[in-house]
Amino acid sequence: MDSSPSTSRSPASEEADRERAKTCEKKKEGLGWMEWMRGWLYLAYEMLFQRITASHLPNPMPLPHLHEVTCVITGCTSGIGLQIARQLAESGAHVVMAVRNTKAAHELSQKWQSEWSGMGLPLNIEVLELDLLSLESVVRFTEAWNARSAPLHVLINNAGIFSIGEPQKFSKNGYEEHLQVNHLAPALLSLLLLPSLIRGSPSRIVNLNSIMHYVGFVDPEDMNINSGKRKFSSLAGYGSSKLAQIMFSSILHKRLPAEAGISVVCVSPGIVHTNVARDLPKWLQGAYHLIPYFIVTPQEGARSALFAATDPQVSEYCALLKSDDWPVCALISHDCRPTNASEEAHNLPTSIKVWEKTLAMIGLPADAVEKLIEGEQVQCQYGLKQD
Ligand SMILES: NC(=O)c1ccc[n+]([C@@H]2O[C@H](COP(=O)([O-])OP(=O)(O)OC[C@H]3O[C@@H](n4cnc5c(N)ncnc54)[C@H](OP(=O)(O)O)[C@@H]3O)[C@@H](O)[C@H]2O)c1
Repeated sequence: MDSSPSTSRSPASEEADRERAKTCEKKKEGLGWMEWMRGWLYLAYEMLFQRITASHLPNPMPLPHLHEVTCVITGCTSGIGLQIARQLAESGAHVVMAVRNTKAAHELSQKWQSEWSGMGLPLNIEVLELDLLSLESVVRFTEAWNARSAPLHVLINNAGIFSIGEPQKFSKNGYEEHLQVNHLAPALLSLLLLPSLIRGSPSRIVNLNSIMHYVGFVDPEDMNINSGKRKFSSLAGYGSSKLAQIMFSSILHKRLPAEAGISVVCVSPGIVHTNVARDLPKWLQGAYHLIPYFIVTPQEGARSALFAATDPQVSEYCALLKSDDWPVCALISHDCRPTNASEEAHNLPTSIKVWEKTLAMIGLPADAVEKLIEGEQVQCQYGLKQD
């Protein structure tokens, strides 16, 4: 892995953020229709042209030797995460499969091991339990990992849900499930793993995001979409959770001092044929399977995350955005090119509120990042109770 140039945010630029936040205090109730239309057009464009725009990319993505690199990958028992884990392991990385179905992960690991036999050193894979629907499980995972005092070089927040057409559901922590699995739990995981990521510096946090964030809207006062102000749909839940992740990542990217050497990147994998469609009605699943030209394979969908996790240009790009004081963290498109996040993702006042609200929801103090960077202990509310 490479090292990022050293740049740090000046107190003046932090003050400028706060000023911008104050002056843009006007409350927005939802996406404007132009933003919404633009979002759907982007989505249609990605669906129709993703193969063409990514045609320059080899498949599978060639990776450098990663023998000294440790990667934690969430949700790698199917789809994109499975491909990411396998390819990183075959490139020599120490891969930690952070999954809720440990039996499936052990079976996969054994299968990969036997198919790899004779092609190089045995794969270095371990399986650890992590259920993102339980914030207690996230805390347990991070406590166990940090207790090793080992470096972590890459955290890939891949696990995600899109419960299409399902009624609104809440986790036992009381949070809307898309929000918890796609945003809150990965946010807690990223923050609590900061000590290990600092040990592994230069290191990276890679978040599997989605073009669907373009049609998402986050009301920081109604993150659960249950106040009655907005009607819940799985589309609203998914899009909002992905937008919340970009907003939170943008503030994390700003808060982490350049000296910490941790890059925060969001990636869009494209529109990929995976289990994500398992909740579609049967007739729609049929249609989904009938359009293989437009929908890419999980191996193709894994390329942007693998690029974000390993390419030296990515941390240089993150450092550049930091020094430019750009309001949004790096977003890498399915074709492995930097892309612009939605207009709403540039709404810095909302991003700051989403950051503050997220910290409160995941039971961390407002100065958690600063404390963790200083090497201080931080108590998470979800570490105190057993589930
Ligand atoms: N497919 C697409 O077109 C697409 C487009 C844009 C973004 N993405 C994003 O890419 C990521 C991977 O999605 P995919 O398409 O590969 O979907 P997938 O095939 O359904 O895989 C999702 C993975 O997440 C895991 N997971 C779900 N809930 C979890 C929980 N509570 N705790 C721990 N792990 C959990 C699943 O584990 P189980 O097997 O145990 O359920 C599975 O391994 C997601 O973040 C998704 O939002 C996908």
